Amino acid sequence: MAVGVVSSSISFGVKNVVGSVPSSQFEGLVLALKEALGPSSGLTSDDVDVGFLTRLMLEYDSNPAEWSKYAFGDASRGYTRNLVDEGNGKSNLLVLVWSPGKGSPIHDHGNAHCLMKILRGNLTETRYAFPEDDELEGPMTVISEKTYKEDAVTYMADELGLHRVSNRGSDFAVSLHLYTPPNVAKEGCHIFDEKTGKSSRVPGCHYYSAYGRLLKQ
Ligand code: SIN
Repeated sequence: MAVGVVSSSISFGVKNVVGSVPSSQFEGLVLALKEALGPSSGLTSDDVDVGFLTRLMLEYDSNPAEWSKYAFGDASRGYTRNLVDEGNGKSNLLVLVWSPGKGSPIHDHGNAHCLMKILRGNLTETRYAFPEDDELEGPMTVISEKTYKEDAVTYMADELGLHRVSNRGSDFAVSLHLYTPPNVAKEGCHIFDEKTGKSSRVPGCHYYSAYGRLLKQ
């Protein structure tokens, strides 16, 4: 599915990105996020300035013409994960395309920062408390639920609990996710059963496309 049309070419006022001329504001955001994370930043999550990354994401006004080349949707799946950039090995920047009425499983974040910006539609984030005792089965506790509109940015990390994201709309929704460090891509994550709180390890999360090209499934 092509979400939007690729046509725009607007220069972006990114400073300190030596030798790189972004072809659109979206590509400018990609470069600015990469620049903010390195090359001198460590690979742990300790020195990441979440406030600055959030501001960069907020400053970008979603324009489908700029990001649609990454936005491959597939109604047979809950959502697709489309790799945009690996931030010099410091991060994963993904465009996620959410099928109508579907969402992600409840999951943790592998001790990484997660920033999500809505590019199209509305997405609902439901947060849960970590199950206290892995031995005791029982329904998971919802901490909060919030629906984010286009251009909103939210932050998630293991300290804040677990979450799932759902598209309750009747059309595809699209979001931009920055994970740093890229722990989940390397080591996987845990998903949780809402009714029992039981977790299982997911070894790796697959990409549907990378750098604007569909991958063999
Ligand atoms: C999310 O629900 O936060 C997206 C999970 C993913 O990256 O697969």
